[in-house]
Amino acid sequence: MTISFAGRVAIVTGAGGGLGRAYALELARRGAKVVVNDLGGARDGSGTSDAALRVVEEILAAGGEAIADGGSVTEFEQMQAMVAHTREKWGGVHVLINNAGILRDKSFAKMDPADFELVVKVHLIGSAFATKAVWDTMREQNYGRILMTASSTGLFGNFGQANYGAAKLGLAGLTKTLYLEGAKNNIKVNTLAPVAATRMTEDILPEEAFKLFAPENVVPAALYLVSEDAPTNAIIGAGAGGYHSAWVTMNPPLVLAPEDRTVEGFAAQWGRISDRSGDFVPQSGAHQSQAILSAIEAAMKG
Ligand code: NAI
Repeated sequence: MTISFAGRVAIVTGAGGGLGRAYALELARRGAKVVVNDLGGARDGSGTSDAALRVVEEILAAGGEAIADGGSVTEFEQMQAMVAHTREKWGGVHVLINNAGILRDKSFAKMDPADFELVVKVHLIGSAFATKAVWDTMREQNYGRILMTASSTGLFGNFGQANYGAAKLGLAGLTKTLYLEGAKNNIKVNTLAPVAATRMTEDILPEEAFKLFAPENVVPAALYLVSEDAPTNAIIGAGAGGYHSAWVTMNPPLVLAPEDRTVEGFAAQWGRISDRSGDFVPQSGAHQSQAILSAIEAAMKG
């Protein structure tokens, strides 16, 4: 079965190059009307260019429909203006891929606080702003597909990327509340952790790997996650043709007897408290307190 985006309007932030460009091209090829957002800055976020316009020209040349938007995801008014313009032109917004991003890598010891703040602002706050700008439209339509772009750095860590990692795990967290709040209006929200050869990774990935990690290999996962039949609240990894899922899990709570609820009592049970047997995936934060209460109940009965 062909997965079509005919009749859908999609916004892809940071789509002037790299992964965002690949998503925009394929969405347009599959019939979506695409807003190519990008301010066209350098990898560290400085400067601007007409990168978005160039991708729009590629889409138009291939027979697709697209418009460029040069707004910055860090400016809420610019995101609102982008959405207003999109609605005027095409009547709605069905898909948002939050993809814009920058890097300012340094070990935490050497990191300038301003570089911490800016990276969090572009990735986390920028995605929240773009999402907030489309949220009411998607609620009114009773249809929305939103993708957050996380990273293995956010999920698992990476030396020299404290700012980036904090922002990226924040995006997985944003997904986890928005999927709950969007559910009754058929808004599905997912998180993608891509690995791709782009300017962001050109000096990180070894040369042989760089060839294997074409951005096109991430496109199947990204587009499925914003398609009509998309799951919701998934965290998916994709790169070089390999695809996988990641979860935030919890083990069953161990209930300590009242007399053991001391630092020493906790330390004595560390092996059991950190044992992953029986791990499960809570579907909301409330699940944690429920699991604790059930464990207390079971302990009292036992
Ligand atoms: P890229 O640097 O080619 O693309 C990022 C785009 O975002 C650029 O075109 C840039 O101009 C745009 N951008 C930056 N700040 C913006 C702003 N304030 N407003 C609008 N646009 C802005 O890099 P790549 O690799 O394509 O990255 C895309 C996303 O994937 C990023 O969120 C990145 O963190 C994420 N990612 C990439 C990985 C990789 O292996 N390439 C690994 C994990 C995550």
